[in-house]
Amino acid sequence: MTLQMGAGILGVGMAVPDRVVTNADLEAMVDTSDEWIVERTGIRQRHVSAPDETSSDLATRAALAALADAGIEAGEIDLVICATTTGDCLWPATACLVQHRIGAGHAAAFDISAACSGFCYGLAIARDMVLAGTATRALVIGADTLTKHVDWTDRTTCILFGDGAGAVVVGPCEAGRGILASELRADGSKYEAVWLPAGGTRRPLTPEMLAAGQGKLAMHGAEVFKFAVRIMGEISLSVLARAGLGPDDVSLFVPHQANARIIAAAAERMRLTPDRVMRNVERYGNTSAASIPIALTEALAAGRVGYDDVLVLVGFGAGLTWGANVVRWSRGD
Ligand code: UT7
Repeated sequence: MTLQMGAGILGVGMAVPDRVVTNADLEAMVDTSDEWIVERTGIRQRHVSAPDETSSDLATRAALAALADAGIEAGEIDLVICATTTGDCLWPATACLVQHRIGAGHAAAFDISAACSGFCYGLAIARDMVLAGTATRALVIGADTLTKHVDWTDRTTCILFGDGAGAVVVGPCEAGRGILASELRADGSKYEAVWLPAGGTRRPLTPEMLAAGQGKLAMHGAEVFKFAVRIMGEISLSVLARAGLGPDDVSLFVPHQANARIIAAAAERMRLTPDRVMRNVERYGNTSAASIPIALTEALAAGRVGYDDVLVLVGFGAGLTWGANVVRWSRGD
């Protein structure tokens, strides 16, 4: 079947909190060093939300920026997908708050809980819904404020995360361009590799648990690291093959920004030189679902993406989940 129309990215936007926490700031809080953090992760600083600044606040700012970039009014949006694991409430969806705050009164709205892979999941769903005619113009947002769930006395996790949001508008484009292929995966047997154990229905938070510092993010760092190094290259090659392409066709690789060593390993597996790899983990840390759209927004602003370029967007995270999208850039800028 030849599709008469593609579904592409029409606009991008991002938002991060004002407050910056440097490695030097962390040295004053836990037993760590700038040298260790930079060598093991590549991270030099991260943006941390204010106590009253939430994922929906950042998501709304990123969504408005993406709409402005696309030259589209909120009223023209008929689908809002927000990928987040740090929603303003346990329910309803943060996407509903954003839908209301940007004035997209005719849009359907729902959240995706696929952690750091959430944006890749959302992009695949938006593409399929646009191509199926269920939606015409969709906002796909990745927004997370994981620092609110971080134990700031745990040096193995608190150095990694930052807060932020990124958004894209997905809509019709020329056939053969836009989001060409997607691949989404999960391995629930690794449910506890990185997770927030308490605060749900299985283990509701009690005052005693709160006092004991529970209800915070827990992670087996080395296990996640090995998994990420294995699957990032693997799924990227696989999704490229689905699009009838190979690593030599890739103009820019836009991976989830969790750790510079994971990005380097994936790039090596795909034999990509650094000029074909987007990396900004040093300035933002791991912003979970926001990291890929933030990286994409910065890549465009830096003039690193042009018409007809082939991009691979690839992420991994809690679940465990992982996903990738191949995009042939359809905008003429
Ligand atoms: O989006 C998904 C979220 N999660 C991830 O992406 C995490 C993936 N994993 C990683 O990025 C890495 O595993 C980490 C950065 C978390 C850890 O790096 P590593 O090279 O795997 O270090 P390690 O856990 O093997 O720890 C090595 C040593 C340990 O000391 P000993 O046992 O060898 O004496 C740690 O206690 O480094 C120690 N260490 C630290 N030292 C200084 C752990 N954290 C720190 C720290 N500062 N912040």
